[in-house]
Amino acid sequence: MKTRTQGLLQSVGVLLLVIGTAWLPNAHAADTIKIGVLTPLSGTFADMGQKMQEGLRLFMKQNGDMVAGKKIELIYKDTTGIAPDVAKRLAQELVTRDRVQILTGFGLTPNAMAVAPVATQAKVPEIIMNAATAGIPAKSPYIVRFSFTLSQVSAPLGRWAYRNGIQKVYTVVTDYGPGHDAEQAFVEAFKKAGGEIVGSVRVPVRNMEYGPFMQRAADAKPDAIFSFTPTGDTGIAFMKAYSERGLADQGIKLITTGDVIEDQVLETVGDVALGTITTHHYSMAHDSPENKAFLKAYTDMFGANARPSFVDVQTYDAMTALYAVLEKLNGDTDADRIVDALKGYRAMSPRGPIYIDPETRDIVQNVYVRKTEKVNGRLFNVEFETIPNVKPDGSE
Ligand code: PHB
Repeated sequence: MKTRTQGLLQSVGVLLLVIGTAWLPNAHAADTIKIGVLTPLSGTFADMGQKMQEGLRLFMKQNGDMVAGKKIELIYKDTTGIAPDVAKRLAQELVTRDRVQILTGFGLTPNAMAVAPVATQAKVPEIIMNAATAGIPAKSPYIVRFSFTLSQVSAPLGRWAYRNGIQKVYTVVTDYGPGHDAEQAFVEAFKKAGGEIVGSVRVPVRNMEYGPFMQRAADAKPDAIFSFTPTGDTGIAFMKAYSERGLADQGIKLITTGDVIEDQVLETVGDVALGTITTHHYSMAHDSPENKAFLKAYTDMFGANARPSFVDVQTYDAMTALYAVLEKLNGDTDADRIVDALKGYRAMSPRGPIYIDPETRDIVQNVYVRKTEKVNGRLFNVEFETIPNVKPDGSE
């Protein structure tokens, strides 16, 4: 027969077991900060996802996986491309099942937008490493952007073009958020300066055949074509059509955002890119001690001929900021505290000085006017003019 003491001891034992198992996952969570990385790792935009992975690997190699005594664990999820429903479902899984305390990545605007309500409801920071449409940070109080906006780079190009003798422009942009912003900001700034828009076309995101669009542009006889295409294969397709339709021979100049011929794409595109004027916030040819150190670390890790893109730098900068605030907060992952600590954040990035505007949680940074040139036999976007501290809406 069981005595009362035996029964009591047994109950205490069960209770301890329950407390024991209940305590374990919490103890684990307290020692680990989980970061969910949502990025395209397959499909048309896989390249962009790879650049994010590079930036993350480089950062972790240099800075380790411990912050304020806690281990940083990255959990990657493949959004497969422009797929807002997939991104939202993956974000929900990350916060409910994997219990991530931070969401990051976000190469593509529609995915970043779709995840915003998840960030708000779950109280999890959403740190943007690329998506660049104007409205994104306003979608959730927990969004902070470390990339750029299309208005930020396109408005300065509109002003520069008119100042430099271009009077008639035809615009060709990809038909979704960032393309619409690029078109609007360029057209507004260019017209305000005195320029004339002789035609505009928006090309479907999935289209890779730019020939007919280029022909229409050529027929309008502009001084220049302005373009935005998302980084990767679309820019290559666009440049191929520009070359094949012989637009340069007809004297039609090319002015684009840096996305179209970023440093890596340039190698594939080849000499047809020579002379193109672009505006952007990062070129691997940027001349600064910070960029030299970044390039050295990058090529040490990925090979002498590997080329970082602006996506690598944006990713690296976002992680630098996250580590800094987690250190400052002693490992506290409360979303309000993280976002508050990121407001007003300043750093010297490989791209130049960056600042997170506390009002909009969006980035203020230099925009550079560049020309595609050969340096030691290789193509680069060589910066020749700096427009300092451009605001996310494109104003200077
Ligand atoms: C975006 O979807 O926001 C996006 C994608 C690629 C770019 C820029 C913006 O190069």
